[in-house]
Amino acid sequence: MAKTEDYGLGEHTFPRGWFMVAEACELDEGPKAVRFFGNDFALYRGKESGQPILLDAYCPHMGTHLTANESSYVIKNGIHIEGDSIRCPYHAWRFGPDGKCNDIPGLDCKAIPQAAQIRAWTAKESMGCIFVWHDPEGGEPDYDVPFLDEWDDPQWVHWKIDHLGSIETHPQEVLDNMADARHLGPTHGAPCQFFNNTIKDHVLIQRQGGYSEEFVAHLSTYTWYTGPGILLSKQSFGEQSAYEIITNTPVDDGVTQVWHGVLARSPNKIATEEDVANARIQQAGALHAFAQDFDVWCNKRPAIQILAAPHEGAFAKSRTWYKQFYNPRAKAHEFQKLANGQYSARGLDQPPDDMISWNKHAAIAAE
Ligand code: FES
Ligand SMILES: [Fe+2]
Repeated sequence: MAKTEDYGLGEHTFPRGWFMVAEACELDEGPKAVRFFGNDFALYRGKESGQPILLDAYCPHMGTHLTANESSYVIKNGIHIEGDSIRCPYHAWRFGPDGKCNDIPGLDCKAIPQAAQIRAWTAKESMGCIFVWHDPEGGEPDYDVPFLDEWDDPQWVHWKIDHLGSIETHPQEVLDNMADARHLGPTHGAPCQFFNNTIKDHVLIQRQGGYSEEFVAHLSTYTWYTGPGILLSKQSFGEQSAYEIITNTPVDDGVTQVWHGVLARSPNKIATEEDVANARIQQAGALHAFAQDFDVWCNKRPAIQILAAPHEGAFAKSRTWYKQFYNPRAKAHEFQKLANGQYSARGLDQPPDDMISWNKHAAIAAE
């Protein structure tokens, strides 16, 4: 298992950016214990605001995990979550969404020790997923979580997230797919006729298309990362149109959790039950294709250095782009300056003009 340092990514072990930490519906079942970025967290939905709240997991009093407990009377008596606050299962100290202790049973609130607080993280719900802003320097987000307008259109069937679990693969290997023009035929049975990448600041775009043996149709995809953890891909094949989401979040150094889903356009203005069933089949098909990458990642040795051939995509540029998230924000622009641009692969055509100009979801101008 290779780690961040092995790839020479930068000063931080875990990257800065928005990352998925749960599917939104998981919070309907109650508070959740999660682990990401080498750290344990307590995740729950505030009863007052309805917003997701993410706190460091361990109570500053005596180190109890705030959400990994089912037997305490704090939970049994239904006082675990009060408004947007959470009570520790051990002595019932209560912490607000800002991480500050706001009640210690039997103690005047003026006497609450200053140190009785834990770190609160910026969490956000979008398109059925819970995302957290992770910044090793503690800074505020400098870009927003992506959102697809189609999510609010009843013609589009929402994804039901596939939870693919953790793999002992550094996310660098997952990101390499973006520049990897020459695996599409051998791995996925869909060799591309055209291919290019655009890199602009925190966004990395891949445009590709060709005949897919898998779908028995021409397939074109416009895929983009908004930061290091969230991939969206607009996919068109035959009459069908869909968006795929793939999210990756570091769990520990060199271990990555992955989720997947498909937002599918139905033929009816308001999707019917049959359309929902077809959308599930479509998602299963996309998952099958993604599993072909997974199969490789789970069994390969790390590609610390890529023995790059001259007809491949811009692996080096894409890795430089990825480094910005592992370095202090003040240095990010240096990596952006080195990586920004348009890159093609020798022997492959340029994408059609309409794909070059289509950029509403990437929210950047084509260059
Ligand atoms: S350990 Fe949390 S209140 Fe005592
Ligand atoms: Fe792939």
